[in-house]
Amino acid sequence: MNPLKDKKILLGITGSIAAYKAAEIASSLTKSGAIVNAVLTPGGEKFITPLTLHSVTGRHASVDKDLWEGEQHVTHIELGHNSDLIVIAPASADFIAKITHGFGDSLLALAVLAGHCPVLVAPAMDGDMYLNQATQENIAQLMKRNFQIIGPASGHLASGLVGVGRMSDPQEILGAIRYTLSRGGILKNKKILVTAGGTQEAIDPVRIISNRSSGKQGYAIAQAALDLGADVTLITTVTTLPIPYGCKVVYVKSAKEMQNAIFENLTDINALIMCAAVADFRPEVSEKEKIKKDGSELLLRLEPTEDILLEVAKRRYEYTKLNAVIGFAAESENLIKNAESKLNKKKLDMIVANDISGKESGFESDKNQACFLFPDGSKRDLPLMGKDQLAELIMEEINKIIIKQ
Ligand code: CTP
Repeated sequence: MNPLKDKKILLGITGSIAAYKAAEIASSLTKSGAIVNAVLTPGGEKFITPLTLHSVTGRHASVDKDLWEGEQHVTHIELGHNSDLIVIAPASADFIAKITHGFGDSLLALAVLAGHCPVLVAPAMDGDMYLNQATQENIAQLMKRNFQIIGPASGHLASGLVGVGRMSDPQEILGAIRYTLSRGGILKNKKILVTAGGTQEAIDPVRIISNRSSGKQGYAIAQAALDLGADVTLITTVTTLPIPYGCKVVYVKSAKEMQNAIFENLTDINALIMCAAVADFRPEVSEKEKIKKDGSELLLRLEPTEDILLEVAKRRYEYTKLNAVIGFAAESENLIKNAESKLNKKKLDMIVANDISGKESGFESDKNQACFLFPDGSKRDLPLMGKDQLAELIMEEINKIIIKQ
């Protein structure tokens, strides 16, 4: 399921101070199982050495000398042809101009000309250089030719000025690489809706009723669905976790907002994964002003929230493409019995039951221990594992359900 595994990535490094960040990109890609061939332009070599790239990738890092004096016959053609993806990070204004106009005056520019694979370009330069009409027109040309442009971001520039031109954060570039390489996956053209986090029910403008859900499992599922090539929408109450690259995100707070967002986004969805911990009760009255203490006790009257999955079950006939609805049951006792009853009551295609009383699993942890239950009575009991790994297994089951339909 790892879209980076064994993928050949040509990482082109051109003349920009952001070149030092290329080592982080190369290292992360290599650790994720990709085969990284770094190629430095003469400008790139001024900022970072081939030895650094060789050290983090475990592979020869090529420079222009290899074009003329290398042992291989046609290094530039081989590099271009044998890559699944070319990433230029950082891409200087000069290099962008060169690839826009088909120049071949360096090993890297030649490899880009020879390549048949997608090309990702992460510009990095001074703000005025980036905003210059020549650069803007070059970038627009590249976009027209389906080159993917990542960034640049705003912030402090090498010139000491603040503006747009900084290379995007390596994590964002890594996300874009992962996303691009996953696009032909088995869930290509499938639309997946995932919810994550605990809902927040307002008592007053300051206080809420919520729960201990971290949202990590939902985010891991969104990433696993993206890795299989799906188009993913994430409806979340969590604002502190990084959004998986390529996800459409809808931020909500309360159960009511989550329900509205789900029905607004449900048309054309093939699978709904209801991982959010939806509050079952909310204050009957949410005070407009902050409640002041006056020494006496405060009684809160709670009313039930809408049960979103029950509502989806009632209206499922409206959503003809919805082949899989998955729920979660976080239980502190009678795990299987309670989960089975939710599976049946909410007419789910699968429920992920997890025992939250375990020390290492459940809320706030990076691990989870779950059992999958299905309407035909079958079960899949799983050992304690990382939430990422569990997310992959959940997506594996959802794929089977979608294929069966
Ligand atoms: N759920 C929902 N709407 C609610 C409450 C829960 O859609 N108001 C969904 C959750 O996202 C989860 C499943 O229903 O996928 C089961 O949630 P859980 O809180 O375990 O069960 P409840 O039905 O709320 O029952 P209880 O809290 O009494 O165990």
